[in-house]
Amino acid sequence: TDLAALAHGLPKAELHLHLEGTLEPELKFALAERNGIELAETTVEQVRATYDFTDLTSFLAVYYPAMQVLQTADDFHDLAWAYLQKAASQGVVHAEMFFDPQAHTSRGVPFSEVIGGYRRAIVRAERELGVSGELILCFLRDFSAEYAMATLMEALAYKPWILGVGLDSDERGNPPEKFAAVFARARQEGFLLTMHCDIDQVGSIDNIRTVLTGIAVDRIDHGTNIVEDPSLVALAIEKGIGFTTCPVSNSFVTEQMKADEIVQLLRAGAKVTVNSDDPAYFGGYVGDNYAALAAQASLSAADLVQLARNSFEASWLTPARRDAYL
Ligand code: ADE
Ligand code: ZN
Repeated sequence: TDLAALAHGLPKAELHLHLEGTLEPELKFALAERNGIELAETTVEQVRATYDFTDLTSFLAVYYPAMQVLQTADDFHDLAWAYLQKAASQGVVHAEMFFDPQAHTSRGVPFSEVIGGYRRAIVRAERELGVSGELILCFLRDFSAEYAMATLMEALAYKPWILGVGLDSDERGNPPEKFAAVFARARQEGFLLTMHCDIDQVGSIDNIRTVLTGIAVDRIDHGTNIVEDPSLVALAIEKGIGFTTCPVSNSFVTEQMKADEIVQLLRAGAKVTVNSDDPAYFGGYVGDNYAALAAQASLSAADLVQLARNSFEASWLTPARRDAYL
């Protein structure tokens, strides 16, 4: 339909994308072969058959082991380059991309290989696709605060290549306050801050309150549960906090897109955005997410234009570059 074409064609920023979540089965096989790794599956269909997620935990149980094929800077480059080309084909002109260094350093891959490869893809995308890219370092919240702090210290050598820090992985038992000192230090070092407040978590409204009022993040990833507390919605709007929602991903981890919550935030005037999260696993890149939400919630063309506009307003582009897109 025309709306689906608009969903894919509108120039937009992507703000919630895990680079490791863009590993398509075809590339996984190619990297396994290059690195001499034996995989349990031998066909793309067998790999996709394992994508039978019922919640965040069952997704993460597939997501982390797949990363064993990522070993050298070339591998990380190829992963990010494939994503950036795909994103460009769905209207992305700017991408602020999460990466999970501890998913690699914890298995012996040097931080320098990870960020070196990703950076090379970003420079190439700017030159060859006209797409700008930035990196957001995510700490894995199921590891210790000490490991997160050590990772932050290691990242300081690459400050010009890292725009901000985030927090992902399993939220259960790993609340934001566990990382308060790490995020305070990151802020001191000049990084922007965001955190996942996942949508399938009982009690996540308390975590949303903590990240807004205690940690004082600049953005919230997912966070649609905030509609449970209208006073927090009002606070987020007053602070100009962006929400990076991921409808297709939501439909895997909770069996619904959370379309009502997303639209409620949109109508209230919050800076709510639509993103793809882990597109290789959930089967939808960012344009597909705009289209899926539009179909589910009967959005208008004007709504899609507003969502794309929000993606720049909630981005961490400099004001001059952001305004050029508005
Ligand atoms: N890591 C990769 N994708 C994630 C998600 N959707 N939630 C939490 N951690 C993640
Ligand atoms: Zn995410």
